[in-house]
Amino acid sequence: MERPKPRETDFSRGFEEERKSILNMDYEILEARHNHQEIVEKYDRIASIYDLFGILMESKARQRALEIAAIRDGERVLEVALGTGLNFVEILKRNTRGWVDGVDVSSKMLEKAEKRIAKTGQKNYKLHLCDCRHLPFDGELFDVVMSEYLLDILPVEDFVPILCEFGRVLKKGGRLIMVHMTKAERVWNRFYEGIYRLQLPLLAGCRGVWAKPFIEAAGFEGFSREFVSQMGLPSEVVRAVKGFGPPSNGGARHARASRGSVGSKYHS
Ligand SMILES: C[S@@+](CC[C@H](N)C(=O)[O-])C[C@H]1O[C@@H](n2cnc3c(N)ncnc32)[C@H](O)[C@@H]1O
Repeated sequence: MERPKPRETDFSRGFEEERKSILNMDYEILEARHNHQEIVEKYDRIASIYDLFGILMESKARQRALEIAAIRDGERVLEVALGTGLNFVEILKRNTRGWVDGVDVSSKMLEKAEKRIAKTGQKNYKLHLCDCRHLPFDGELFDVVMSEYLLDILPVEDFVPILCEFGRVLKKGGRLIMVHMTKAERVWNRFYEGIYRLQLPLLAGCRGVWAKPFIEAAGFEGFSREFVSQMGLPSEVVRAVKGFGPPSNGGARHARASRGSVGSKYHS
């Protein structure tokens, strides 16, 4: 896929012009800061304090994602990178008669999630310790795949393969709902990417990304996007659907019967 010409945001060109350019996704995505192993170690380390950040800066976009997902009771739902389970318990509440799977690579985040979920008293779920590049599920299993604040910590070259993997496990007509930090659309939103550029630790390795071209390259249809800002953190909430046609080339290339659980008490 041809990537748009990289460019930094430049509000000196005038706010409206810059905003239009951002919406056209004509700007650079910064390099991911951490490799896979560093990400696992980082989230294991910050699991005990993660909720502070997760609630203060991300709850509004997560709430909007739940509304857009419009989960119907009885559906089979997958949450990828469920973290400490802030969203997972909300999915469970809306899906008492269905089934919910959650995956994450950090055992410490999963431990926190497990404690939070236990308080709901619901039993219709399973957590899996695994890398989302190789989901331990058969194809076409889920009505909904949700993931929040994952894409913004991963390398750009992983976006399409990972989205194809999400597409593989979704049923035809299934919904993909994602939230991640995106590029600033207002001057004050630039604060967080400034922190990222300065290599300060506050963002846990997140930088602004946009999903549209990658989601479309992975063969999804009907893309829609909303911008949400909370405490200056710019997020995009995106929705797309797996079509009823044959898989796209990208999907076929990356479809696999992989079973990548790294093993622990959390598995299928
Ligand atoms: C910023 S947190 C978001 C957690 C949760 N979705 C939320 O919104 O509160 C990112 C999460 O992605 C998980 N993660 C990172 N890389 C992953 C991968 N390759 N596969 C599965 N989970 C991953 C991390 O362990 C962490 O829990």
